[in-house]
Amino acid sequence: MARNILIVSSSLRAGSNSELISKEVERGALSAGNNVEFLSLKDRKIEFCIGCLKCQKQGKCILKDDMSELIEKVNNADTLVFSTPIYYYEMSGLLKTFLDRCNPLYIRDYHFREVYLITASAENSQTVYQRAKSGIEGFVECFPNAEFKCVFSGGGLTNPQEIKTHDEILERAFAFGTKI
Ligand SMILES: Cc1cc2nc3c(=O)[nH]c(=O)nc-3n(C[C@H](O)[C@H](O)[C@H](O)COP(=O)(O)O)c2cc1C
Repeated sequence: MARNILIVSSSLRAGSNSELISKEVERGALSAGNNVEFLSLKDRKIEFCIGCLKCQKQGKCILKDDMSELIEKVNNADTLVFSTPIYYYEMSGLLKTFLDRCNPLYIRDYHFREVYLITASAENSQTVYQRAKSGIEGFVECFPNAEFKCVFSGGGLTNPQEIKTHDEILERAFAFGTKI
């Protein structure tokens, strides 16, 4: 059955490798008959969570920025795919900020059931993305109806657009997209 998939891309770099990988995942997911929305956090105004916890009473955040629109996209998706460059063996600060700002969903009847992670990194290893994976798992743990599924990692990618010389990663990304 077609699912509503939201891909959240969190690199701010022009020619982002993680974004180009995520676009291939999107193509794969579309080819499998899903509805896919690609959300780049570039040019979005997303402030840091200030921890006031008013969202836990009101179901919405007191900060006035783009998150009031973006959180509805997260809430309405069946499947979430977070995409990040690896920074110091972690997810990007922007993605972490985005997750923190999803806190109003904690008391809402959120819809998403499956969560995936896409990473791009200079190092090509199974260990480079483990802390980012842990961070996403921590987020998912707070939403008991959802399940963390798996990571797609592209390694050996340092410079912008370097992914374009790695057809094998892009092919894997397309195949990954057909299965999410
Ligand atoms: C601040 C910063 C920290 C980084 N830390 C790591 C790291 O810990 N491990 C690694 O393999 N690559 C690291 N990199 C390299 C990026 O992960 C790599 O260039 C990746 O392709 C960037 O993805 P993007 O093009 O989607 O932004 C770092 C890059 C920056 C700018």
